[in-house]
Amino acid sequence: MRTQVAIIGGGPSGLLLSQLLHKAGIDTVVLERRSRDYVLSRVRAGVLEWGTVEMLREAGVGARMDAEGFPHDGTYLATRNQGFRIDFQERTGKKVMVYGQTEVTRDLYDAREAADGKVIHEAEGVTLHDAKSDAPFVTYMKDGTEHRIDCDYIAGCDGYHGPSRQSIPSTVLREFERVYPFGWLGVLSETPPVSEELIYAQHTRGFALCSMRNANLSRYYLQVPLSDKIDAWSDAAFWDELKRRIPEDAADSIITDKLIEKSIAPLRSYVAEPMTWGRLFLVGDAAHIVPPTGAKGLNLAVSDVHYLYHALVQHYAGDDEGIATYSDKALARVWKSERFSWSMTTMLHNFPERSAFEQKMQEAELDYLRMSDAAQTALAENYVGLPY
Ligand code: FAD
Ligand code: DHB
Repeated sequence: MRTQVAIIGGGPSGLLLSQLLHKAGIDTVVLERRSRDYVLSRVRAGVLEWGTVEMLREAGVGARMDAEGFPHDGTYLATRNQGFRIDFQERTGKKVMVYGQTEVTRDLYDAREAADGKVIHEAEGVTLHDAKSDAPFVTYMKDGTEHRIDCDYIAGCDGYHGPSRQSIPSTVLREFERVYPFGWLGVLSETPPVSEELIYAQHTRGFALCSMRNANLSRYYLQVPLSDKIDAWSDAAFWDELKRRIPEDAADSIITDKLIEKSIAPLRSYVAEPMTWGRLFLVGDAAHIVPPTGAKGLNLAVSDVHYLYHALVQHYAGDDEGIATYSDKALARVWKSERFSWSMTTMLHNFPERSAFEQKMQEAELDYLRMSDAAQTALAENYVGLPY
């Protein structure tokens, strides 16, 4: 088989790139290791920057998001007894959209299917070949047979553990990493969200976040030690701990019920440079990971897609400037989102080894944000998403 762009990974970045290129008349094949149902069962991000919203509309997959998503004009930051609200709309003229990654992915799958797009699920042993040459190709196994796809370019949209980044020689790749000494326990509950807007809560027992997916589906998170086991967290223990960490009025009014999803995710900051190697481009989690505080992971994957999509359209129109500058342009934005996610994580979490001085710095940081217009505007500007 031959295609113009072979896309490895059928998560949000691979599917969105495929859909945008299709609309521009560029042929792609998406290779995904898992089944469609498995990909759609992963509960992940929930907050879309406005740039992401506009990209999804441009790709022709915005209709359900616009009908069912929830635009949010602001968010709450809180300590146990003192909450305050940051108004994004007033400070930046922009908002964010609460619409789950699962729904974004489902809309993209439906659009690819409607356009007869080639998305090959359960492709095993995907291997990249000759990315440094003018004739790259990808091989994979499906139903016991080996297949080969020749292409002009390879887009590595295969997440942190995928083969794309690993195919770049270690002499070329520079890696930057911070691993945090805690994780997030995330749950879903079929109950109305405790607050109309998100609550990011700092507490001496650890961070907590109240989020949502829709009017009857709440998403809550607790900072937990990495050593915690998911089975040791009963539903009752989760609700008790959440109530201890969030503002009192929220704790008093929260509606609790059986939890329908529970998982623990570690927190990490990670960037691989460069994001281009020969005819291979890394996109999204394949190149970088942010800790989830601030909801940047999915949005960063979409901004990479923006740069690569425009670079490829430009290339097929005869201009290689975008291809040559993809890595630099994408990384400039990646590092700013890394900085924001790191600073939100540092400001809001309880660090077990923190000195008394560092503890005071954290308190001062949140206190400054509470009273400073300038600091609130800076947070809002980053939260709604920096320009592409
Ligand atoms: P992915 O979504 O990881 O997609 C990569 C795809 O490649 C996957 O479908 C995978 O199956 C496929 N793949 C992997 N290996 C191969 C292979 N060998 N061959 C073929 N295909 C392969 N972000 C937030 O903003 N908020 C959150 O609350 C949040 N929660 C998260 C929870 C978890 C457990 C994880 C892992 C991430 C979370 N994120 C969150 C981050 C966000 O979900 C990611 O940034 C986003 O999914 C990145 O999209 P992507 O398409 O680049 O990568
Ligand atoms: C969600 C996750 C985040 O990391 C965040 O900062 C906000 C919302 C969520 O899953 O809803």
